[in-house]
Amino acid sequence: MNHFELKNGVMHAENVPLPLIAQEVGTPVYVYSMATLVRHARVFREALSGLKNPHIAFAVKANPNLAVLKVLQREGYGADVVSGGELVRALAADMAPADIVFSGVGKTHAELVQGLEQDIGQFNLESEEEGYELSAIASRLGKTARCALRVNPDVDARTHDKISTGKAENKFGVPIDRAAEIYAALAAMPGIDMRGVAVHIGSQLSSLEPLETAFEKLGKLIADLRSQGQKVTHADLGGGLGVPYKADDSFPSPAEYGAMVARVTRDWDVVLSFEPGRVIAGNAGVLLTRVIRVKRSSNASPFVIVDAAMNDLARPAMYGAWHDIDAVEPRGGRNVAHIVGPICETGDTFAMNREIDVLEAGDLAIFRTAGAYGATMASSYNSRGFVPEVLVDGDRYAVVADRLPAADIMAAERVPDWL
Ligand code: LLP
Repeated sequence: MNHFELKNGVMHAENVPLPLIAQEVGTPVYVYSMATLVRHARVFREALSGLKNPHIAFAVKANPNLAVLKVLQREGYGADVVSGGELVRALAADMAPADIVFSGVGKTHAELVQGLEQDIGQFNLESEEEGYELSAIASRLGKTARCALRVNPDVDARTHDKISTGKAENKFGVPIDRAAEIYAALAAMPGIDMRGVAVHIGSQLSSLEPLETAFEKLGKLIADLRSQGQKVTHADLGGGLGVPYKADDSFPSPAEYGAMVARVTRDWDVVLSFEPGRVIAGNAGVLLTRVIRVKRSSNASPFVIVDAAMNDLARPAMYGAWHDIDAVEPRGGRNVAHIVGPICETGDTFAMNREIDVLEAGDLAIFRTAGAYGATMASSYNSRGFVPEVLVDGDRYAVVADRLPAADIMAAERVPDWL
């Protein structure tokens, strides 16, 4: 469910016609719907209503825009951060330090210090070595770090290889068969309070089965730890719930996910936390683009060249990902076309031989489901600037990230005086 719909033949974000945003802000531009974000945040929370006091931390990496974080903070969400930069953003959006979880396989010394100084809610440790380092830093600072041990359950999430995180060969977490031993070793260290376990097996999951398998393994680990005299009061079940990228795709609903979690964790007696990203933000955003020209130089499908490119929306080039493409003011016909950006490599292709609305030079179009892992993954490749972001709320909209022109990026560069 989202709020990007045709009204009188013109695509709107809630009540704002997209041509208005294109005219006033320019293209390409990311457009987010606040009503969709709020709705998703509430649907996900409601899905967990069978649990006692679940903690929900939005995975900031999915969409770190400050205004987006503020909407979720107002919905009572905390933050799952994976860098010092994301931590700064979560705090800037007034998320309570206690509601911030710090994940990530390579937290630097400086980031561990930063998390401790901010007194964040929980560090999800991804290795024994990280635990020892955190213990030493916390002891030196006279602090105690609340920690969970992220385990790698060796479960195939059955998603794209590049976004699968819970197989033994993936870099994340500690092997589940060594987890009890590592937990005990870390629990004995000063400066850290080992209070729980965490798991996250991958993103864009289309089935609940791998999640259930992983959670069952985690439940068994909790029981083992307790039988060895360890304290376990918290369990972090990560994110990963997939969303439909094609209009007719069907995915497990948050309610089905919540029911499965309630069933599997019934006897755990812990505070559960969650790190949803895509399921909250994915369908709450589109990338609005304008057709530069249509190239019809062969008998094959035409190339519809748009002003957005792989540097603005990397998912198709990176994962072969599908994003539905719709005209903003459909002309009525459909045709088969290739949709490409202007960047000088073949990978800058959004779709090949896709049946889409007929698009001509100057027309506007949207890439749907671009609210998660869209703007956040942008680069300035080909010396293209960063695309602006707009948040719509009913009849009004605001530019929530300015366009960063290529010249401003170049302004950070220096030619040394010996050149
Ligand atoms: N927690 C942890 C520890 C994670 O690594 C991730 C995502 C999440 C939570 C949120 O997962 P979600 O609910 O959004 O599935 N760039 C890729 C996705 C990478 C996901 C990385 N980790 C893409 O565009 O598909």
